[in-house]
Amino acid sequence: MYVHNDVPEEKQEEKKLEVVVNEAKSSAVPITVGHCRKECKATCAKSVWTVGFSESIREKCKELILDREAVQEVMQRLLDHIERGLKKDTQESSTVKSYVTFVQDFPNGSEQGKFLALDLGGTNFRVLLIELGVNHFEMKSKIFAVPQHIMLGSGEQLFDHIADCMAQFMKEEKLIKEHLPLGFTFSFPLKQLGLTKGILINWTKGFNCSGVIGNDVVQLLKDAIARRGELELSVMGILNDTAGTLMSCAWKKQNCKIGLIIGTGCNACYVEEQKNAEFFNEPNHGSDHVVINTEWGAFGNDGCLDFIRTAYDRDVDENSINPGGQIQEKMVSGMYMGELVRLALEQYTKEGLLFGGKGSELLSTRGRFYTKYVSEIEAEPLGVHTGCMEVLKELGLKHASEQDCVNVRYVCECVSTRAATLVSCALATILNKMNNMDVTIGVDGSVYRFHPHFHNRMMELIRQYTKPHINFELMLSEDGSGRGAALVAAVASRVKS
Ligand code: GLC
Repeated sequence: MYVHNDVPEEKQEEKKLEVVVNEAKSSAVPITVGHCRKECKATCAKSVWTVGFSESIREKCKELILDREAVQEVMQRLLDHIERGLKKDTQESSTVKSYVTFVQDFPNGSEQGKFLALDLGGTNFRVLLIELGVNHFEMKSKIFAVPQHIMLGSGEQLFDHIADCMAQFMKEEKLIKEHLPLGFTFSFPLKQLGLTKGILINWTKGFNCSGVIGNDVVQLLKDAIARRGELELSVMGILNDTAGTLMSCAWKKQNCKIGLIIGTGCNACYVEEQKNAEFFNEPNHGSDHVVINTEWGAFGNDGCLDFIRTAYDRDVDENSINPGGQIQEKMVSGMYMGELVRLALEQYTKEGLLFGGKGSELLSTRGRFYTKYVSEIEAEPLGVHTGCMEVLKELGLKHASEQDCVNVRYVCECVSTRAATLVSCALATILNKMNNMDVTIGVDGSVYRFHPHFHNRMMELIRQYTKPHINFELMLSEDGSGRGAALVAAVASRVKS
């Protein structure tokens, strides 16, 4: 049985739930059994798939439902891209670059000391102080906003902001005089040339700071620290948030071989055999393995996912700051999910299928249907629409009927289930490729954490797409990206000494 780490195994039986499947009306992915997550308790115990939505909406949403054949095609193409990404001759032609991370050594529980970690990858930036002892872990952290003008400003401004935040935190924690090892989680596509050298290939997730692409971000950080003065730090490693998630789960479970993020962005890393990673030419320290950051969010940038994309996907892409980039991510991650739903709702309203054909200014405003609404709406028990009504009121749709709520919920389910399907089939591709008998997948990110049914749907779908002899478990990573950075710094210090 596959268990979720935050629900004790004996409790899982109690939480096992039958999921209502509206087979007669819906050709939706048939989810039959799931395991309720601790957080959603009663809310998801009754429903995963709504009933009673209009026939016209079902027809419209068909294009959002991926059948088995489409999934198989996606999986084959993804495998091909990952394999091409690993090879010197073919990486250029692949959309899944499969970057080597230089993370080869995993924590063994003996790491000790005080470490600083930086975590940059979304609208927030975090500084963390982590103390590791034998089977002991303590953490303090502070979150700083990354304002829009910095996300779109110059690289120098960005790294100066990071150095300022770090100094502020270190002063508050009375660490300013300490010479601490630092791990840097930088969650963007990096071509790594070593554990402490990473060239930014392109920005994703709404960042676009000038003068960073093509440069070593560790050097840019060191320059900012030097410009500021006062801080003494040794950068021990730079890593992706997926690798951080993998490291933090591997600290607890040795069979953790995949790190996954489904948050603002979506990406995964996995443990590959060194002989398959042609870009890795470091001496083999004995593990024979190296972590590969797939950067699978860019899958489809060459058009190979066009056969499943909809007008809403094209709209989201065309109106983003990186058109043509991160095509898979734009179908899956939290930065775009709400907008996909909004575009579909807007279209159906125009066609007279929702809200009596009467929309609102906010429904037609880009970015105004937040991804958190999708979670809120789907968290309601079947037949209860209080939350949905609230959301629709907030959007100026006071005239929405109960039937509209059922329909809106169905649209949300189609978009979020398609996301879960794409992530699950991508994970299954990697699990099948690795072909290990028992693999733990460390997972983090707001969509996974807060969507009430994402975990359940993934469990079911991954099982469907993975070879029967492969067992897997999804493990929620607590603070993976920050904790992972400290662990990389700690392991690097351990290996060095
Ligand atoms: C984007 C980034 C990737 C990161 C992911 C999740 O896809 O390019 O590096 O891992 O978001 O944060």
